[in-house]
Amino acid sequence: MSFDLDHYKQTAKAVEVDDIDFDDFRDKPLSAEAIRCLHYMTDVETHTVCYLRDLLVTPSHQNPRITAFLTMWNFEEYWHGDVIDRVLAVHAEINGLPRHRSVRLAQGFRGNVIAPITQCLTAAVFGEDFIATHMTWGAVNEWSAHAAYGRLIELEQHATLTKILQRIQQQESRHLAFYMSEARERLEKSRKAQRITRFALRKFWAPVGSTITPKAETRFVLNHLLGGEGATRWCRCSTPRSTSFPASRA
Ligand SMILES: [Fe+2]
Ligand SMILES: [Fe+2]
Repeated sequence: MSFDLDHYKQTAKAVEVDDIDFDDFRDKPLSAEAIRCLHYMTDVETHTVCYLRDLLVTPSHQNPRITAFLTMWNFEEYWHGDVIDRVLAVHAEINGLPRHRSVRLAQGFRGNVIAPITQCLTAAVFGEDFIATHMTWGAVNEWSAHAAYGRLIELEQHATLTKILQRIQQQESRHLAFYMSEARERLEKSRKAQRITRFALRKFWAPVGSTITPKAETRFVLNHLLGGEGATRWCRCSTPRSTSFPASRA
């Protein structure tokens, strides 16, 4: 069964924070390692609109089902960044618009001009089959985001952070469900799409955020959250429950 897009459109929303006591972080601040991970996470979340810019110059743009999803996806990801920024603000860390602007400016001519043009031209060569690659890529990234939040919850053992990150995870699960549903359908239909997607993932995939943040930050976050034996064991059993279809009403 495919993802129920109409239901998702009606229920997409900002992460609920009305009942969150952000002052709790003043009494019980997060570890320096968690703060560093949250900076990375919000940089990625708030960069979603830029990823969207690069996707809207590909064949995905011509599919209204995909663009309807991307509209809601971008909206929800924005709020993921916003709520993490609120946590960083309580810790007197740089956050919000000045931080987002500096991340975007740091991408320079290459990231802001060359990258979207290259993506536009490459995707145009592959045509409709590019969408399968986009959907598979999205699924991998949503899955890893879900796992990263889960691992941070486990490491930090902080009730308020847990509440916030679990709400973000619920939304990441729905994103994952859409991407997986679309990827599966498209890959089943086209051998060419399978070949292109396998090639693209093997050759070009890298952890989400690694192209926009300093390499040292990606290395730190991966080591802290996903390094070590405990993390490997944890990742193996962290498949989001709502990826079994129909997952759209999770
Ligand atoms: Fe997110
Ligand atoms: Fe997501």
